[in-house]
Amino acid sequence: MVKIFLDTANIDEIREAASWGVLDGVTTNPTLVAKTGRKWSEVIQDILALVDGPISLEVTTTQAEEMIKQGRQLAKLHKNVVVKIQMTTEGLKAIKALSTEGVRINTTLIFSANQAILAAKAGAKYVSPFIGRLDDMGQEGMQVIREIAEIFRNYDWDCEILVASIRHPLHVIEAAKLGADIVTLPFDVLKKMTQHALTDVGLKRFVDDWQKVPK
Ligand code: E4P
Repeated sequence: MVKIFLDTANIDEIREAASWGVLDGVTTNPTLVAKTGRKWSEVIQDILALVDGPISLEVTTTQAEEMIKQGRQLAKLHKNVVVKIQMTTEGLKAIKALSTEGVRINTTLIFSANQAILAAKAGAKYVSPFIGRLDDMGQEGMQVIREIAEIFRNYDWDCEILVASIRHPLHVIEAAKLGADIVTLPFDVLKKMTQHALTDVGLKRFVDDWQKVPK
């Protein structure tokens, strides 16, 4: 079953999605935390208290040594923390070092199957291909998911495909059809997944007709 993460740092959205019983985890990044206008540490504590699943927290440094230091600190915060590391050569060094210590890594900013291969080989637990940003520039993001899924099926790697930068519900359907392990969604995409015009029409008819039933 495809796992559903929320791609947000907004606590109200996380609380609402969690109440629907469909939330498996959360991904954050510096941009999402900045949008809240709140202190990083407070946002993170709130998320960790709300969701019992993998919570990706991104390192904000770019040199391997610093990333490793920061990754260790993040991992110590809570058993559910997954350290998010950027797909660079410095990132690969940090992924190797931290994953060898048992820290779970989500490799972010992946835009090609080659990058996913390297991240998985270095020991990442998750690879995050950004499909929406590829679509935005006229390259089919889902093709990268197709390739990674095909490649990962050939090997016994303990690395999950976490489809990121999702823009609409069709992305979710396509990702699930390809067997991606996880989709991380903006709250509005998750909300749209719950909706259908015929559900609204049908519900209205049931409610109206119930009024006509003698009681
Ligand atoms: C992934 O973990 C990222 O936070 C994310 O999905 C980025 O998406 P964007 O292209 O909407 O910024």
